Amino acid sequence: MEKIIDESKQGTSLVIEANEKNARKLYIESYGCQMNFSDSEIVASILAKEGFNTTQILEEADLVLVNTCSIREKAEQTIRKRLEQFNAVKRHRPAMKVGVLGCMAERLKHKFLEEEHIVDLVVGPDAYKDLPNLLEEIDNGREAINVILSKEETYADISPIRLNSNGITAFVSITRGCDNMCTFCVVPFTRGRERSRDPQSIINEINDLYERGFKEITLLGQNVDSYLWYGGGLKKDFDKASDIQKATSVNFAQLLDLVASRFPKMRIRFSTSNPQDMTLDVIHTMAQYHNICKSIHLPVQSGSNRILQAMNRLHTREEYFELIDNIRRIIPECGISQDMIAGFPTETEQDHQDTLSLMQYVKYDFGFMFAYSERPGTLAARKIEDDIPEEVKKRRLAEIIDLQQQHSMERTQAQIGKIVEVLVEGNSKKSDQHWMGRNTQNTVVVFPKENYRKGDFVNVKITSCTSTTLIGEAIGYGQMQ
Ligand code: SAH
Ligand code: F3S
Repeated sequence: MEKIIDESKQGTSLVIEANEKNARKLYIESYGCQMNFSDSEIVASILAKEGFNTTQILEEADLVLVNTCSIREKAEQTIRKRLEQFNAVKRHRPAMKVGVLGCMAERLKHKFLEEEHIVDLVVGPDAYKDLPNLLEEIDNGREAINVILSKEETYADISPIRLNSNGITAFVSITRGCDNMCTFCVVPFTRGRERSRDPQSIINEINDLYERGFKEITLLGQNVDSYLWYGGGLKKDFDKASDIQKATSVNFAQLLDLVASRFPKMRIRFSTSNPQDMTLDVIHTMAQYHNICKSIHLPVQSGSNRILQAMNRLHTREEYFELIDNIRRIIPECGISQDMIAGFPTETEQDHQDTLSLMQYVKYDFGFMFAYSERPGTLAARKIEDDIPEEVKKRRLAEIIDLQQQHSMERTQAQIGKIVEVLVEGNSKKSDQHWMGRNTQNTVVVFPKENYRKGDFVNVKITSCTSTTLIGEAIGYGQMQ
C-alpha cells in the first residue's frame, strides 16, 4: 500500500509474536492512511512494555483500541458502527476496556466519553507515550483522555514493533503533522503542525530493519518533500533557527541521498509528495540512485486553477505540468500516481473537464479518487457551501475513475515485452505457485515461483497484464540481488 487508504486493509487487526511474560491482551484495529497503520506499530511497542500481547480475537481482549480516521465522513461512520459492536461485546465482558486513538480523538472526545459513554479512553496522535499513565487511570475506574498535539513528538526513540509484517517491506515515518491547510482537509487539525524526525534516528531504524532482513522501506509523511531537520522543532519555526542550525540542516533531497547511499541493498520509496514542495533536487537524487524507486505519488486533487486556488493548493495547473515534464525528462520511466477529489464546492462542468484533461496530459499509472466530503472545522466547511449534488459528485467521480482505468491499462500494456526488476514480497493472491512483488514503478508483478525466494530481486519478462497487474516469467536475478 502506497500511502493512502487501501480499502482491503481497512479495519485490519494487527498481531505480533507473543512475549510469554505478558499477561494482558490487546486487540488493535487500524483505519485510514499508512501513517495510522505505522502509528499502531508504535502503540503496540509502547504497550508491549506494559505487559500486553496482541490478539486477533476480540472476545479475549482486555484492551480494545481503534486507530481512527476522519478524512471522509464515511470513514467516521464505519468506525462508529465498529465502536457499537465493541460495546455489545463489552456488555458480556465488563472488564474489557475500549479506547479510541488517532484522528477522531480530538474531534469527538466529548461525544465519545461524556455524551455517549461508548469508550473508556481517548488518545490523540501525539500522546501515545502517555498510554501507560492513561491505562492506570482507567484501571482505577476513571475515564482517561490526552489529545494534546505536540511541537516536538516524532516518536524517534520508539522502535516500532512490525505488525502483520511480510518481513520484506516496512514503513518508516519521517515527518508528522501538516502545515499546508488545504481547505478540504482535517489532517492539520487532527495531527497538528509539521515537524521532522532526527535523520540519525531514521537511519538507525532502517539499519535495524536491514539487519532483520527487510529489503524495502517507504519513508512516510503527509508531505515528505517538506522534510526539514535543523535540530528539532516545527517546520514553521525554521526562520528563527541559528546560523549553525541552518547550515547543518537536512532537507528531503539530502535525506534521500543519505539513506540511499547508506543502504545500497535496500529499495527506498517515499510517500506522499505535495507538488508545491517537490524540488528538482529530489528528482535528480532519484535519478542518481538505482535503489530509489522510480515512482512518485503526486496528488493534484483538481485540474482547474480556480478550484486549486479554492482548495489552497499552492500551485497552478501549469506549474504542475512543468513538474510532470521535469519528472518525465529526468526520469523517463517514472511511475506517477494521483489523488483526486470530485465535486469540490462550486466545481462547474468546465472545472471537471479541466480535471479530465489534466489526467489526459499526465496519464497516471494509478490513482485514489474520492467524492468531496465536507469535514467539520475545515476552512471549506466554514466558508463555502457544499453545493454540488451527491449524484453530480458521483457521476463526475465515475468519469474520473473510468479515465484512470483506461490510463492504468495503457501504462501496464506499455510494459509488455520489457524486463523489470521485482522484489518478491510473498505469494500471489490467486495462486501459491506464483510470487507477487512490485517493479520500481510500484506496479504489482506476478510470475511462476521456480526456485526464487521471498525477498529476492528477480528480473521478470512481462508477457501480459491487466490494468493493475503485470504477468511474466523470471529470467534471472536482478541488479540489487
Ligand atoms: N498529504 C496527504 C493527504 C492525506 S489525505 C497525502 O497526500 O497523503 C489523502 C487524500 O484524501 C487526499 O489527497 C485527498 O485526495 C483525499 N481527501 C482529503 N480530504 C478529503 C475530503 N474532505 N473529501 C474527499 N477527499 C478528501
Ligand atoms: Fe491534507 Fe493538504 Fe496536508 S491534503 S494532509 S492539508 S497536504
